[in-house]
Amino acid sequence: MTTSPITPMGKMGCLLTSYLLLSIVLSANAQFVKNTYIIQMDNSAKPEIFSNHLDWYSSKVKSILSRSVQAEMDTEERIIYSYQTAFHGVAAMLSQEEVEKLKLQEGVVAIFPDTKYQLHTTRSPTFLGLEPMQSTNNIWSEKLGNHDVVVGVLDTGVWPESESFNDTGMRPVPSHWKGACETGRGFSKHHCNKKIVGARIFYHGYEAATGKIDEKAEYKSPRDQDGHGTHTAATVAGSPVHGANLLGYAYGTARGMAPGARIAAYKVCWTGGCFSSDILSAVDRAVADGVDVLSISLGGGVSSYYRDSLSIAAFGAMEKGVFVSCSAGNAGPDPVSLTNVSPWITTVGASTMDRDFPADVKLGNGRKITGSSLYRGKSMLSAKKQYPLVYMGNGNSSIPDPRSLCLEGTLDRRTVSGKIVICDRGISPRVQKGQVVKNAGGVGMILTNTAANGEELVADSHLIPAIAVGEKEGKEIKHYVLTNKKASATLAFLDTRLGVRPSPIVAAFSSRGPNILTLEILKPDVVAPGVNILAAWSGAIGPSSLPADHRRVKFNILSGTSMSCPHVSGIAALLKSRHPEWSPAAIKSALMTTAYVHDNTIKPLRDASNAEPSTPYDHGAGHINPRKALDPGLVYDIEPQDYFEFLCTQKLTPSELGVFARHANRTCRHSLSGPGDLNYPAISVVIPQKNSTSVFTVHRTATNVGQAVSKYHVMVSPFKGASVKVEPNTLSFTRKYQKLSYKVTFTTISPQTEPEFGGLVWKDGVHRVRSPIVITYLPPL
Ligand SMILES: *[C@@H]1O[C@H](CO)[C@@H](O)[C@H](O)[C@H]1NC(C)=O
Ligand SMILES: *[C@@H]1O[C@H](CO)[C@@H](O)[C@H](O)[C@H]1NC(C)=O
Ligand SMILES: *[C@@H]1O[C@H](CO)[C@@H](O)[C@H](O)[C@H]1NC(C)=O
Ligand SMILES: *[C@@H]1O[C@H](CO)[C@@H](O)[C@H](O)[C@H]1NC(C)=O
Repeated sequence: MTTSPITPMGKMGCLLTSYLLLSIVLSANAQFVKNTYIIQMDNSAKPEIFSNHLDWYSSKVKSILSRSVQAEMDTEERIIYSYQTAFHGVAAMLSQEEVEKLKLQEGVVAIFPDTKYQLHTTRSPTFLGLEPMQSTNNIWSEKLGNHDVVVGVLDTGVWPESESFNDTGMRPVPSHWKGACETGRGFSKHHCNKKIVGARIFYHGYEAATGKIDEKAEYKSPRDQDGHGTHTAATVAGSPVHGANLLGYAYGTARGMAPGARIAAYKVCWTGGCFSSDILSAVDRAVADGVDVLSISLGGGVSSYYRDSLSIAAFGAMEKGVFVSCSAGNAGPDPVSLTNVSPWITTVGASTMDRDFPADVKLGNGRKITGSSLYRGKSMLSAKKQYPLVYMGNGNSSIPDPRSLCLEGTLDRRTVSGKIVICDRGISPRVQKGQVVKNAGGVGMILTNTAANGEELVADSHLIPAIAVGEKEGKEIKHYVLTNKKASATLAFLDTRLGVRPSPIVAAFSSRGPNILTLEILKPDVVAPGVNILAAWSGAIGPSSLPADHRRVKFNILSGTSMSCPHVSGIAALLKSRHPEWSPAAIKSALMTTAYVHDNTIKPLRDASNAEPSTPYDHGAGHINPRKALDPGLVYDIEPQDYFEFLCTQKLTPSELGVFARHANRTCRHSLSGPGDLNYPAISVVIPQKNSTSVFTVHRTATNVGQAVSKYHVMVSPFKGASVKVEPNTLSFTRKYQKLSYKVTFTTISPQTEPEFGGLVWKDGVHRVRSPIVITYLPPL
């Protein structure tokens, strides 16, 4: 996962001083320093004299260019993108001074600096894993009529030779599709087919920030040399492939969530990162191309709605009826670690499945400890022999020794050679730690979790015999080593195990709420499988993604919210094909109100970081339940104007609101009494913590998408701090698509200091339409 940067606090003062000096020197040159900016324009304000929007945008940019030495640099060279569908404007290379001038121009709505995003995976540097695709009765593999749905995947491109993209038996490309197959090194027209119906690349922002792409080192084409994009695309809509496996692990049939859906690959991430101007252009183009769903497994930091270009582009996509699913981030278990939190985005956290890869550590004292591994190689340790065991740390994680982390160059051959080495997780990629041990002559590695990972086991395709163990087990092994001069162990690998209980469990790394931007919008929305996922892989890189890994595999096992997001994108494609008339909000509602919050032992869904029951801050509405989502009974629908009304409650200035309003010329009608009144499928209320009784009301409107005549009764869980009343407590529908409203009144009884969690369920005997409820008690000022 995240490799936490080491910040030498003692050096801050010194750094700060040199930064000040540097900025004085730089400011003299500021007018020549150009960066990429995204300029949002009011497309309705174009004067008649311009025949098209781009001409007008260009004239605006030209009008403010500095009359300096480089002033004559072609305006066209300065403009690296124009956006016309989900977003209106251009991306251009400008100096700070030019930006200031441009801000004052009529028709300019907002200007954002280009920012860098990360893929939400910790692949071989990070997580590895597997998915339950081989069982025939699992809910993921149902074939449904989903032929004419196209899912746009914004990622690192695609490896077209993968069997997951075999289009045998597929119907012709849908006629509404307007996308293209862009070509380049290693990618020609024939690499697109009836499965991969589009492939495009977006690199102007990347090149503007980092310099020209080295075409010898990197494919400047839709070809994926990273593997991430191939993995996510195949998870969305890969065709069934029998006998898929990684080094023999997870053997079975691999298939995407919507095996009949089409994929359009939009390559926005390059070896040096993903940039918002490229991402924005890809969203804009994908919407114009006619995608139905966008799958975006990446994120940056959280900034206000109107400063977040991905949020703005997603708003435009939503207005055009496109469902946008994004990864929540891998910054858990810290609270308030979510990204991509806009209500019009579906924010997906990660959970485990009922499959793992057990491996045993057998200690010299007879103890057997089970961990996890995907090691498969020639150098096996003998099960009968014992190997000396060594740990470089002192057993105190608050003062870590770099050798205990097995960082590059820290291990001494004399101490390590011929031994099994215990390495703590953190700082460097897990598989790389094994490589460091191997290079120093070690014969095996035991990778121990720290408090942040708890007992969550990640399986990696290590380059030497290596097993990951939980924090508790790790402590036991370290204690054994630190108290025994002749400590020894051997490692044994046991293959794939199914039916693991309990599962699912919320992954420790999955980013957590509450939603820092708006407490009243519960995030994440749902969790989906994101630990140990098997899917197609690039032929250009080994399964660990390390340069030293020369193995080539057709499938790889990864973990991250990057992996859970495409599960939801694929299920959304299934729902869209079954219910083409459903809006993006209706699809999200179906996913949320049918989600479950129990594991396969009928106990509450747990959190891997502490083995305690998880809360809606960890799992949102719960774990997706695709089959139930096909027939949710009721949906909470939200029109684009309603989302705009939500923004009207967010204390934005008219120009900040304008960022969202321009496209459809929206104005605030003030139809919502507060953000909690948005017709969201989750209910989150913020109540002041005061002694006098306070009353708080939210409204919801349910649309009947089940039987025409149906009667629902409500049930609400009890809360300590407030009583909850629902009026009316029955909803009697007489026709399909009929809308009925109800209100939920919260009256404080004894305000709590901690938030309280519960749920509200409408039942008609067939359907259970569940909304999570969160009550946050605000302390007095
Ligand atoms: C695609 O699938 C078909 C049917 O399963 C098979 O006959 C064909 O060989 C596959 N093509 C490739 C390139 O793997
Ligand atoms: C770890 O080191 C810290 C700082 O020296 C000390 O306060 C703490 O007690 C030690 N913990 C253990 C388990 O030895
Ligand atoms: C936008 O809406 C306002 C008020 O409803 C109207 O006066 C104006 O003409 C509209 N502008 C455009 C470009 O449609
Ligand atoms: C609330 O009640 C508590 C205990 O009953 C009391 O100590 C406190 O002063 C009260 N606060 C207010 C604002 O009335």
